[in-house]
Amino acid sequence: MQEQLKKLEQEATEKVTNVEDLKALQDIQVAYLGRKGSITEVLRGMGKLSKEERPVIGELANTVRTTIQAAIDEKKQLLERAELEKQLENETIDVTLPGRSVNFGGKHILTSIIEEIEDLFIGLGYEVREGPEVETDYYNFEALNLPKGHPARDMQDSFYITNELLLRTHTSPVQARTMSALDGAEPIRMICPGKVYRRDSDDATHSHQFTQIEGLYVDKNVRMSDLKGTLDLLAKHMFGTDRDIRLRPSFFPFTEPSVEMDISCKVCAGEGCSVCKRTGWIEILGAGMVHPKVLEMAGYDPKEYTGFAFGMGPDRIAMLKYGIDDIRRFYTNDTRFLKQFHEA
Ligand code: DAH
Repeated sequence: MQEQLKKLEQEATEKVTNVEDLKALQDIQVAYLGRKGSITEVLRGMGKLSKEERPVIGELANTVRTTIQAAIDEKKQLLERAELEKQLENETIDVTLPGRSVNFGGKHILTSIIEEIEDLFIGLGYEVREGPEVETDYYNFEALNLPKGHPARDMQDSFYITNELLLRTHTSPVQARTMSALDGAEPIRMICPGKVYRRDSDDATHSHQFTQIEGLYVDKNVRMSDLKGTLDLLAKHMFGTDRDIRLRPSFFPFTEPSVEMDISCKVCAGEGCSVCKRTGWIEILGAGMVHPKVLEMAGYDPKEYTGFAFGMGPDRIAMLKYGIDDIRRFYTNDTRFLKQFHEA
């Protein structure tokens, strides 16, 4: 029995020495020291021993147990430490690694142009208004002196939704909406930026969807010279104080008289080049004095009130300002293009 115990001790300590993980170590503990373990098995036979032998074997069994347990404890500590070290190593954070870059969005160039124009007009006491993109035939055409069958309706091929509803072809209906809402009761100074839609075939200079900014000033004694002064300020604000403007007679059904505004060409300073088609001037926007009929339809007495209106395209302004060659770049969302206009 003594020998048996010695053998078990040797066997167990050897196994403990060679064991590589905690689970296997636990198994050894159970196999040798557990209730059904080998040592316990041996001790079951103690009953057959003589009185003298029993304490000797008992003591030996205890020593064997303690030795094995001590070996297991020591190994356990070793394995636990190794495991912790491995874990720490796996979780090490290398603080010298460069961080992953975060992609920040930025303002779209058209948003920036619109905000720049809004800032100018807010400074002049204008308010910024909005109108629906799905517009009624009445506000898009009728209220702007474009009755059904009017030849000028052909100027703008439209996306109709029903007979009476369409995607607005310009921001001018917001003029009529603003005036109608106030019903002749007070002066108006407003601008309205927004999207507009036309049934154009898309190419470098045409798009089925683009942006416009409408402006409207209605009060007593508003004159053409007020319009000219305002447009001159706008042109200098957007393109630089060295630019001149000129007004050319034109036609819009909702203004009388109507004009188109050109700015002097920056490239050739008025000499004539390919950018300005050899004229020295570049067309920017349409404007005019609000037609008496338009005022009247919206509830303003044209004998008492006069006004001016203007409409411009931020897409066109951006193209001229930055030499952008194709209007489609604004909506095809190539971030390499868009990023050029982000503030640093
Ligand atoms: N609505 C016109 C267009 O889309 C632009 C325009 C011209 C607006 C003259 C105006 C204006 O307010 O007075 O072509």
